[in-house]
Amino acid sequence: MTQKVTVRLPISPDDVEGEAARRVLGEAAQVLHSGGLVAFPTETVYGLGANALNGEAVAGIFRAKQRPAWDPLIVHVANFAMLDRVVAEVSPRARNLMDAFWPGPLTFLLRRRDTVPDAVTAGRPLVAVRMPVHPVAHALIALADLPVAAPSANRFSRPSATTAQHVLEDLDGRIDLVLDGGATGWGLESTVIEVTESSIRLYRPGAISAEAIEAIAGPVEVYHASAESEATPESLPSPGVGMRHYAPNARLVPVDVGAAPESEQQARWIEAVREQAGENQAVAVMLPTGWPLPENFRGRQYLWGQWSEDRELAHRLFTGLRTLDSLQVEKILCPLPAPVGLGAAIRDRLRKAARED
Ligand code: TXA
Ligand code: MG
Repeated sequence: MTQKVTVRLPISPDDVEGEAARRVLGEAAQVLHSGGLVAFPTETVYGLGANALNGEAVAGIFRAKQRPAWDPLIVHVANFAMLDRVVAEVSPRARNLMDAFWPGPLTFLLRRRDTVPDAVTAGRPLVAVRMPVHPVAHALIALADLPVAAPSANRFSRPSATTAQHVLEDLDGRIDLVLDGGATGWGLESTVIEVTESSIRLYRPGAISAEAIEAIAGPVEVYHASAESEATPESLPSPGVGMRHYAPNARLVPVDVGAAPESEQQARWIEAVREQAGENQAVAVMLPTGWPLPENFRGRQYLWGQWSEDRELAHRLFTGLRTLDSLQVEKILCPLPAPVGLGAAIRDRLRKAARED
């Protein structure tokens, strides 16, 4: 692909109405209108955006990320009028959930309109949509007045980007512009659901927990791909559920430390580290605050955050994996949080990052 000059423009999320911010947003909207690629912060992770109604522009996303064409993209909208430009209908159940969680990190699979190019949905009848709450994302989409297709702004299968620096590590020279609005809030991608009359199917646990959705709309069924179907992710109802993903270059080894109390989890952790790291200097750990290491541990450590604070763990997860990767370690050991609330999303990412396919 042709090399581009990637421009990085700072923008303050607290002042998107200011004159400097309007100039930056105007430039970014212009790039979108002319079919270019703009990375921008959202409340989850950075997105790599293109005009969702322009198939050529969308094809550019796949080239820049080196993403296979069968993995469809989420379309981001700024308001309900824009939603109507891309989806054919919204059921009352789905609308109820939108009223509860939009703008915010919840993505819906809905029947698409013909205006949405095949490239966006990988030829599928459903399109993924969400309305982000991050001021920069919202202001950009509203100003451009375009639905914006945006996957996470990382090279395919790498950890998602939660800062503009991460975006540039993966995509410098491959995209036109990155809006640098600082670190993203949640640090983990949106929750992906499909709402039908009889069920709510959850394909990707994310910033909005299954419990929070259940409190509004009733039972949520968590989708698990079978081992055979995972071999061909392009045939899954949502390809992302069955892939190696979010992965550092080092081999990631999740350590199942069981359930609370934390002292027992720490005991399992230290045992696992003793066994799997020994004195090997090329082994690194994602270490919760205050957790012990064996006395003969010689590897590197990333201080992850308070084990009881799942928001902090989510926020720092991808930065941790990228930081340890930059130290060129061979193996990263990481404890698995309990599958409750955001912990379910963190586990999901670590499990997918640990896959060997
Ligand atoms: O938080 C997020 O969702 C971020 C920000 C930028 O909005 N975006 C993001 O996009 O994580 P991406 O492309 O990295 O992940 C989208 C997930 C993938 O697992 C994909 O397989 C699934 O959504 N998906 C997208 N469109 C779909 C469709 N039409 N049918 C089924 N699954 C779809
Ligand atoms: Mg992604």
